[in-house]
Amino acid sequence: MSDVSRENHGSSPTSTLFDRVGGLDFFERLAARFYVGVRSDPVLLALYPQPDDLDSARWRLASFLAQYWGGPTTYSDERGHPRLRMRHATFPIDEAMRDRWLAHMAAALEGCDLPGTVSADDARIIRGEMGDYFFRAADHLRNV
Ligand code: HEM
Repeated sequence: MSDVSRENHGSSPTSTLFDRVGGLDFFERLAARFYVGVRSDPVLLALYPQPDDLDSARWRLASFLAQYWGGPTTYSDERGHPRLRMRHATFPIDEAMRDRWLAHMAAALEGCDLPGTVSADDARIIRGEMGDYFFRAADHLRNV
């Protein structure tokens, strides 16, 4: 992108991704879509300690992501330091499991509308940035 100012559409160049996607609502929709995918996937679902109560897990994911991308620190207020590798240590995560998780997240990300004020170019940048992060984060959680 050659003209950075063109990409901001009135928002500050220093605004966080949390702000650019429209705040908590986006992460709640993203986590909700993601968990529709998880529910449909018996192999991934088998890892969840409480497969009948995914609402709590969905909120933990939404609030974590909102915090990670610059939103309020609600996740840490409720759960303490994320320590995601430690919190995933009891779930056997190999490459195939990582890829399942990523496939559901990619589908959720693709299906989640961004605010109407976000241009198509910016939407591609935002989804790219989030997709790269998800790959790095999920790969880091592999433990078998
Ligand atoms: C690599 C594949 C992954 C698998 C198989 C997996 C699986 C799980 C499972 C089974 C849980 C327990 C559900 C619960 O909270 O009750 C969990 C929790 C969680 N996962 Fe993952 N996960 C993966 C990747 C990720 C990634 C990449 C992130 C973040 C970018 C993430 C964020 C979280 C968070 C925030 C929690 C709640 C932790 C807590 O506060 O207890 N997970 N995950």
